Amino acid sequence: MSRARTLAQVYRHFGEVDAAGTSPLYERVAVALSESDEALRAIEAAPARKRHPTVILAALHDLALAGRAPALAAACAAADGDAAAGAAIDTLLRMTDSVVAIAVRRRTQTFETGRCAVLYPAIAEAARRVGAPAVGLIDVGRSAGLNLHVDRVGITYSDGRSLGDPSSPVQLSASIVGNRPVPTGAVPEVVARIGVDRDPVDVTDADDARWLRACLWPDRPERVARLDAEMALVAAAPPLLLRGNAVEVLPDAFARVPADALPVVTTTWALSRFPLESRLRFLHRLDEAAVGRTVAWVSAEGVGVAPAIPTLGDRRASGHSTIGLAVFDRSALRAEALGRCWSRGSLLAWLADS
Ligand SMILES: C[S@@+](CC[C@H](N)C(=O)[O-])C[C@H]1O[C@@H](n2cnc3c(N)ncnc32)[C@H](O)[C@@H]1O
Repeated sequence: MSRARTLAQVYRHFGEVDAAGTSPLYERVAVALSESDEALRAIEAAPARKRHPTVILAALHDLALAGRAPALAAACAAADGDAAAGAAIDTLLRMTDSVVAIAVRRRTQTFETGRCAVLYPAIAEAARRVGAPAVGLIDVGRSAGLNLHVDRVGITYSDGRSLGDPSSPVQLSASIVGNRPVPTGAVPEVVARIGVDRDPVDVTDADDARWLRACLWPDRPERVARLDAEMALVAAAPPLLLRGNAVEVLPDAFARVPADALPVVTTTWALSRFPLESRLRFLHRLDEAAVGRTVAWVSAEGVGVAPAIPTLGDRRASGHSTIGLAVFDRSALRAEALGRCWSRGSLLAWLADS
């Protein structure tokens, strides 16, 4: 079986299975790409790990949004699958180098917000236990999302409870399983918002903001509207972004949180990207910072991924994640599992006493 044929199968599967029912436009485009030998050859100009339909379609969409592929932009705006298929192939063949350059430079991003439903009660609980009147948020392995603006969204849980700002333009919902409600304490004043990543995304940068839009499927206008509201919320109070290896950058991040505020480091589905040795050095950094002040770490990570957080006897890779809280208080470390969550935080079971 030739490589091009294998790629054809990937694109056909993406169209007929992944996009079908959700995005008729991408279903049509992906199937058309799978049937064009020329298009598949152009895609093969990208490194193997950058040939996936989500990457190539986002790169094409980025060119359309940037005004560099007007026919594709018009077809996307009209949600015209046949026109988009023709325009996508034409753009891919005419602008192969540009498509490949975008695919190589960028990682597909989703501006995911479900994390806030988990982070909000956990951060509030950290502050309550320490008696902190204010917090400085440091999001490590930063999502291009709302982790650093968790206090500025509204969250409604399936048991009728709600947290956060009920008048926020960004309203989220999450389901609760089990019989323990999430605590209703509020996140105190947030006095610092700091994102740490090797390659941070800045929504106030036009290219970065366009890339986030490009990663959405064009015929999902409700998602585009939600993303715009979320990005506007972040842009109104832009976080400080620190670029680099978290293990190196964390001391600088802590130094930027005012002394009377509790630094709360957050990680959501980020630490699995760190080698084990880096995860342990990350933990060590938190411990070092706690020599001079109390530090909290709130995590939502796969079972067993966050060092020191109990696994509750759950098996690794068991399909859910652990909501962790570690408080480093000078010489003492108190680490516990506050709960479990599924689907990146849209379903959660709270376990901790509050
Ligand atoms: C899976 S992604 C982020 C997930 C995101 N927090 C979420 O909730 O969707 C992992 C991120 O960690 C970053 N990353 C990986 N290793 C890192 C390191 N050593 N220091 C800083 N950032 C790192 C990557 O650049 C990437 O943005």
